[in-house]
Amino acid sequence: MNQLPETMTAVILESYSGVTALHVEQRPLPKPGPHEVLVKVAASSINPSDLSFIEGMYGFRKPTPVVPGFEGAGTVVAGGASSGLMGRYLMGKRVACISQSEGDGVWAEYVATAVNYALPLDDSVSLEQGAMSVVNPLTAVALIEIAQNAGHKTIVNTAAAGALGQMINRLGQSAGIRVINIVRRDTQVELLQQRGADIVLNSSSPDFAQQLHDACHQHRARLAFDAIAGPMTLQLLEAMPIHGKVTVYGGLSLQPSMVSPAHTIFQSKSVDGFWLSKWLAKKNPLQSLLIWRRTQKLITTTLQSEIRARYSLQDAPKAVLAYQEQMTGGKVLIVPA
Ligand SMILES: NC(=O)c1ccc[n+]([C@@H]2O[C@H](COP(=O)([O-])OP(=O)(O)OC[C@H]3O[C@@H](n4cnc5c(N)ncnc54)[C@H](OP(=O)(O)O)[C@@H]3O)[C@@H](O)[C@H]2O)c1
Repeated sequence: MNQLPETMTAVILESYSGVTALHVEQRPLPKPGPHEVLVKVAASSINPSDLSFIEGMYGFRKPTPVVPGFEGAGTVVAGGASSGLMGRYLMGKRVACISQSEGDGVWAEYVATAVNYALPLDDSVSLEQGAMSVVNPLTAVALIEIAQNAGHKTIVNTAAAGALGQMINRLGQSAGIRVINIVRRDTQVELLQQRGADIVLNSSSPDFAQQLHDACHQHRARLAFDAIAGPMTLQLLEAMPIHGKVTVYGGLSLQPSMVSPAHTIFQSKSVDGFWLSKWLAKKNPLQSLLIWRRTQKLITTTLQSEIRARYSLQDAPKAVLAYQEQMTGGKVLIVPA
């Protein structure tokens, strides 16, 4: 670990009580363990999963105090014991990195992560785009693959004006799948229409339920991807023809999904869930590599994310607040330098 500092600046989560439990401090530089590399972080993103994590509402908790942040990008500067051929290959490489389910995350100047959680970036992808190139792009690829494998020609998607929603719409279009996009404001309808979306419905419209029913029946939409949960899940089930399925992949409403027995019993409708980690775990290493390479080629086009603002590590709590206040319009990045 030549010429590396002994300490680094990092964001710390003291307890699972949200943004008020975040502060910034100096910490010892992490030492990469067996099968790990050390990444000097150039940028990290803030996603809804990070908001859930700091509130203690994500799929797992880590012992606190802990550095949050699931996704970032940077340069590999050291390898741990047994990091092997791959560790040596990655030295000096620009990588996207995701944090492990144990240990510290990426909202810091440096992060130690597993060798296979440091993914080499394509030359065409900047470090900032790289910091947004795992969670949402791979989820868009996964959801469109799920729709294609089940033979769906039309899908419904909620929270459609967000970064992932726009990726799903563009990737769906390029795969020949019609997307019924659901947003919650008129400005979001205009945004998506300007960007070439075919069908955009506003869930705040008084006749939304009828519009959604008509669109689902006209295009025989039997698969809906739902990032909102709460009453939206019920509205989607209600609108689709028999055998319709809602796959819940987010909980933006912070409410449990509503389901009526009338739909599940008499209309053979169903609800399931999607989590990227589980989808990826079913892929073998070659499949994962091919998906990663294909995804990287689309990061500056179909799977692109906009950047709305950049904050220093010192201002990371302000960055989280800014993101919570406005989610549409691009990601908020934390940029250590
Ligand atoms: N399951 C998985 O593996 C997985 C992987 C990746 C992403 N996700 C989920 O995908 C969703 C979208 O992520 P993203 O990165 O695209 O987020 P994003 O860029 O921050 O966009 C979020 C969008 O959702 C809208 N929204 C927020 N709260 C809402 C609510 N209560 N009702 C309706 N709309 C709401 C926002 O609109 P406003 O501006 O009007 O607030 C915004 O357009 C999140 O739920 C995330 O957790 C899940």
